Amino acid sequence: MRKLIVGNWKMNGTSRDVSEIMAIAELSGMHAAVDAALCLPATLIYRASQAVGGFAIGGQDCHMMEAGAYTGCLSAEMLSDAGAVLTIIGHSERRAAQHEQDADIRAKAEAAQVAGLQVIVCVGETLDERESKKALNVVLGQLHLSLPDTAASQWLSVAYEPVWAIGTGKVATDEQAQEAHAFIRGLLAEFYDAQTAAATRILYGGSVKPGNVDGLMTQPDVDGALVGGASLKADDFARIANFEAVA
Ligand code: PGA
Repeated sequence: MRKLIVGNWKMNGTSRDVSEIMAIAELSGMHAAVDAALCLPATLIYRASQAVGGFAIGGQDCHMMEAGAYTGCLSAEMLSDAGAVLTIIGHSERRAAQHEQDADIRAKAEAAQVAGLQVIVCVGETLDERESKKALNVVLGQLHLSLPDTAASQWLSVAYEPVWAIGTGKVATDEQAQEAHAFIRGLLAEFYDAQTAAATRILYGGSVKPGNVDGLMTQPDVDGALVGGASLKADDFARIANFEAVA
């Protein structure tokens, strides 16, 4: 399976950063066995997709409705129209700050798929939940309610992003990531079928850096990474996307 390395710029970036985006596209698209993509603030999607020709640019959310009186929101079709080919759905920062519920996430994922976008559905437990040994149960609950009813590996990926690892510098160990990913693959087989589970990419996210990516990528069920802070600089992101080549 080709690995998928996706940068998430969150609320960072203006037109001043287009040259950095172009450098990311150039340097991180070089690994023959890796698909790389960059999920940008919506204001940059059109400009970036025009600038990088062929490199995958994505959004970080979308609304579940096609159009209507939803001030400040963006439909999946709007993202696609601007040049996005994928979007992140259900990031823990949106689950927490925008109170997104699993049912919203499922509806958004389905809307994105209808608009022709690839979708990355994010799940992950908090520190409290991990310390009280509930991590896998939390992931089970989130996936059960937020995965779209039908799926195909061509458009759906899952990102396991433990909340305690996001932006903290505390990466999950290779073993913790592998345990959660193997669990998720088992759930995908139950929800869909064995073939879909085997072909669906499960990304790890949470403090992925040039210094820890190689170990994570050797884990059999880690099919890529969702990278926040380290995706902002072309050198760091390219080192992550080229993990094996320089390991
Ligand atoms: P981080 O963010 O790499 O800065 O921890 C990951 C994410 O939020 O997707």
